Amino acid sequence: MNQKKLFGLIGYPLTHSFSKKYFTEKFEKEGITDCSYELFPIEDINQFPHLISEYSSLGGLSVTIPYKEKIIPYLTELDETAKAVGAVNCIKIKRSVGQGDESNLKLIGYNTDVFGFKQSIKPFLESHHQRALILGTGGASKAVAYVLKEIGIDCYFVSRNKHHDSGTNIFLYEEINEYVINAFHLIINTTPIGMFPNVNEVPEIPFEFITDKHLLYDLVYNPTETNFLKHGKEKGAICINGLSMLYLQAEKTWEIWNEG
Ligand SMILES: NC(=O)c1ccc[n+]([C@@H]2O[C@H](COP(=O)([O-])OP(=O)(O)OC[C@H]3O[C@@H](n4cnc5c(N)ncnc54)[C@H](OP(=O)(O)O)[C@@H]3O)[C@@H](O)[C@H]2O)c1
Repeated sequence: MNQKKLFGLIGYPLTHSFSKKYFTEKFEKEGITDCSYELFPIEDINQFPHLISEYSSLGGLSVTIPYKEKIIPYLTELDETAKAVGAVNCIKIKRSVGQGDESNLKLIGYNTDVFGFKQSIKPFLESHHQRALILGTGGASKAVAYVLKEIGIDCYFVSRNKHHDSGTNIFLYEEINEYVINAFHLIINTTPIGMFPNVNEVPEIPFEFITDKHLLYDLVYNPTETNFLKHGKEKGAICINGLSMLYLQAEKTWEIWNEG
């Protein structure tokens, strides 16, 4: 009997993973019987090479917090988008048949968050969405900024400190006032604030100045309506949660794992 093709997720910790449920249900629904999906909660990224040699049937991996950037030195290639973003959330694994050593092993990094975010936000963008405030400066914020810059939207970041590599367009939360909110009609939360179980938390921005001209996008998908989106909705803003991005990136990942 042929060995099942294995896919999976690396990150740490992996207690509330969407991916395993998503792919296991997908395999069942679509009658895919020759694939399985496993979680690989590795405590340190230096365990990655060992994982690759241990599981010879691995065809692809998703990558989540905290390894989207740390994984890069372990890969043999990066696709153009992943290189430009500087973060990887999808790895395609290619092994040459019949080779006894690992020299023909290809580990190619992609960023499918870019695809998911772009496809999910596009239908909501209007001409007055010229400047975006991105809350947070982590891996997901880089994918978001990459997409928005590509579309021609100016990006500013909001951070708890100004000491990092996101460039000069950075506000501290305490600098976000009525003037800033009026100038930025697009606000995207890329922080984990408000994510389960901390559902009562909310980014510290003055929601009283939000209007029906604003578009608020929360990458958090659990809960489906965070306090960030609730406050925006109360002020008439258009609100989008992270669910469609999540599904879109997962499907794109599956496509990459299965292409030639
Ligand atoms: N919907 C989707 O498909 C999708 C895809 C990717 C990620 N996500 C979600 O997006 C969120 C961020 O992911 P990530 O990979 O970018 O995580 P990350 O690398 O850990 O970065 C999150 C950033 O948020 C800020 N932050 C962290 N904790 C904070 C706190 N307690 N208060 C205020 N700011 C805080 C930090 O920026 P500063 O230090 O500059 O403040 C940090 O760099 C997660 O909730 C993740 O689940 C969703």
